[in-house]
Amino acid sequence: MGFKKGFLWGGATAANQLEGAWNLDGRGPALTDVTTGGTATEARKITYIDKDGNPGTLTRLEKLPEGAHYAVLDDYLYPNHDGIDFYHHYKEDIELFAEMGFSVFRMSISWSRIYPTGLEEEPNQKGIEFYRNVFNELRKHNIEPLVTIWHFDTPLYLEEKLGDWKNRELIPLFVKFAKTCFTEFKGLVKYWLTFNEINNTINFLPDNMPDEYFQEAYQHLHNQFVASAKAVKIGHEIDPENKIGCMICGITYYPHTDDPKDILLNRYKWEKGIFYCGDVQCFGKYPTYAQKLWDEHNVKLDITEDDIQSLKEGTVDIYTFSYYMSMSVTTHPVEDETAGNMVRGGIKNQYLTYSDWGWASDPDGLQYYLEMIYDRYERPLMVVENGLGAYDKVEEDGSIHDDYRIDYLRKHIKTMKKAVDNGVDLWAYTTWGPIDLVSAGTGEMRKRYGFIYVDKHDDGSGTMARSKKDSFYWYKKVIESNGEDLD
Ligand code: BG6
Repeated sequence: MGFKKGFLWGGATAANQLEGAWNLDGRGPALTDVTTGGTATEARKITYIDKDGNPGTLTRLEKLPEGAHYAVLDDYLYPNHDGIDFYHHYKEDIELFAEMGFSVFRMSISWSRIYPTGLEEEPNQKGIEFYRNVFNELRKHNIEPLVTIWHFDTPLYLEEKLGDWKNRELIPLFVKFAKTCFTEFKGLVKYWLTFNEINNTINFLPDNMPDEYFQEAYQHLHNQFVASAKAVKIGHEIDPENKIGCMICGITYYPHTDDPKDILLNRYKWEKGIFYCGDVQCFGKYPTYAQKLWDEHNVKLDITEDDIQSLKEGTVDIYTFSYYMSMSVTTHPVEDETAGNMVRGGIKNQYLTYSDWGWASDPDGLQYYLEMIYDRYERPLMVVENGLGAYDKVEEDGSIHDDYRIDYLRKHIKTMKKAVDNGVDLWAYTTWGPIDLVSAGTGEMRKRYGFIYVDKHDDGSGTMARSKKDSFYWYKKVIESNGEDLD
């Protein structure tokens, strides 16, 4: 009983949140490079210059005005530009991961570091060289890379000129990028994920948005499904050893009351928010309830015969997901709404505690999710993100006593173990942000997840020096004992 021998323990990151070096060695910009910092209550802004040369800002759901172009403006700070400068610190950071005993490290490849605009015929050799160096360094320490091909960073050029993923022209461009990754890093990387939290596109849209937003969002998703499936097929052809997964933003939904209408709503949330993407990527076709979801917003998808064939041929080998929270839903009026990971409108659950950013901490929800998903797909699972974003205090002697983080992770590992004991075939656990990095949601540094502290602050100041928190030593013990010693 317990985690099997060879279980992969480690941490997870994303290129745009940690690498920095946003315009070095030929890298092109991504949307994150024109996105400012925000806070728990103030949204990040995307900056642009309009057709008359005036600066302006947008939030994520707003569209770029006609004739405008994205731009870096003088008066703003862009936290992703420097990230935590992993680009220049990767050796030191990997050494620290190795000291904790990591057997896996999840990272992503920045598309625009390989293809700066997305359109080039040949990849940027400096970008290839950087990732090859990182993979070699990981291998030197017996750490298996787990690589996300797309983690929220389409080249800005494709966003602006081609209208992002709602345009199916992105499919072959992504496939070219994925093929380059599989070819160049063959033998160095075996575990791949195609699109990070692919379901966010739909989950993030409030129900009352005009139909045109849903039309675009479902088409965006469809194009990513096809791109993912084509990439999976090619990845297997290039190296049959490759194991390729989907990546879903995992949220455990609960009905808030026992009103049957809430039970039905809860089922609907699972279908729309969680199963819709998993079903397509694992079963290779759209589920029956998809038509109902499209009809709600008069969505008419552009699906070709070739798409249908591709979806069939490119099902994933593993189901991977992030898990931070559960969410309660109801048809009844509520006063107490909570925040969440890329979603809105949960209801406060009296049995749970909430982080400083309003995210519910629910370890039992992780067991529920693991067992539910394993029953449905019967294929190996990986928890590729889990963690607590919290304020850390550096004591005078430099120590950081993050018992709240240890407590959160301990409880989740315990329930994960229960799922494993109940028969779930779980291969890996990578906590989010093993080293502090820029928050995706808020752009903050002060929302820290790491076992390793990074001296960088929201005003851009700091030395980038790394230091160990209490959780560093705790996680080392957890890994050494294969998840047995959680004290
Ligand atoms: C997931 C993303 O949504 O959650 C990560 O895959 C992100 O990129 C993580 O950083 C935590 O969210 P946040 O907003 O606290 O950084």
